[in-house]
Amino acid sequence: AVTCTVSGVSSFVLPSAPPIRPTSGNDLRTLRTQTQISAETSEDQLNGLFTTTDDIEHAREIFDTFDRDQSGSLTASELGKMLRMLSIDASDEDARALFKYLDVDDSGAVSFDEEFLPWYAEAADNAKLDTMAVQNVLLERRTVTQFDATPISEGVLKRAIACAIRAPNYSESEPWRFISVGPETARQIAQLRGDQLMENGNYEGAGAKMKRWMGIPGWCVVTTKLNDDPIVEREDFASTASAVQNFMISMWSEGVGSRLTCGDITQTKEYADLVGVNRAKERVVGCIWYGFAKGGLASVKKGGREKGVDDVLSSVP
Ligand SMILES: Cc1cc2nc3c(=O)[nH]c(=O)nc-3n(C[C@H](O)[C@H](O)[C@H](O)COP(=O)(O)O)c2cc1C
Repeated sequence: AVTCTVSGVSSFVLPSAPPIRPTSGNDLRTLRTQTQISAETSEDQLNGLFTTTDDIEHAREIFDTFDRDQSGSLTASELGKMLRMLSIDASDEDARALFKYLDVDDSGAVSFDEEFLPWYAEAADNAKLDTMAVQNVLLERRTVTQFDATPISEGVLKRAIACAIRAPNYSESEPWRFISVGPETARQIAQLRGDQLMENGNYEGAGAKMKRWMGIPGWCVVTTKLNDDPIVEREDFASTASAVQNFMISMWSEGVGSRLTCGDITQTKEYADLVGVNRAKERVVGCIWYGFAKGGLASVKKGGREKGVDDVLSSVP
């Protein structure tokens, strides 16, 4: 069986625009110039993008596998078999429509160079663009520290939690809990922090901090389950940490900034009482503040890592 290494296979079925046809067999320059890439995309990310010689060879391999009679072209039934083998969810009608669409010269057969390859190349490129869009969200997320007061809809929070709870978790322990903190409780938490600072004689700091905290539109406290077995508890904590990242990435992907705070105050009994956490059973991991970034996400600092991949990657045989 041929394994299709192009991810995002749904993009195989009927591309929205007619395939861009290279002027000759393997000349994919037209494809390259017509595919829109953001000007900010770095050289590194572009490496490996677009249809490569390997992709073309792979296309050839798939094509030849289904060209059972070695005629150099695919019949409608061979194309249908190919779609099924690639687990592409296409009805017979879809397969017929795709065949008509690909068979540009209406010869009753789909040739490799002129008809199959341009379509395959476009699907492969679309799949790569999808991959790059996901990676860009991961590469660009940064902590937002200054929030706009605009309220954030509950849908944003629920989608973030839907992503959070898909985080990997050992033996399906689902150790996390999310507590959406409303303005009344946020005010009480701000007061708690203000009181702490005032006890230390920092009156000016207390006022400023309370004002700033009360201006943050979204508060979501994340907890993780406690366990008598320290190994299970450690694994559960790792799962909840992954969930936090999924949460923040989901928000960033829709233009909402966030900041994880795990300050001392989040570990106090007073804080737990305010947000309804039973400290015998669960522990506050932190609070995710979220909202639109003052000045927009584009104004959030970029980069932010001193170490590169080669600094943190080592290998053992
Ligand atoms: C476990 C943990 C605790 C954090 N606690 C705080 C915090 O209390 N206050 C804060 O401003 N940022 C906090 N952060 C955010 C980090 O400061 C931030 O992730 C780091 O500066 C890297 O910046 P970036 O997220 O923009 O890449 C925390 C992050 C993690 C992972």
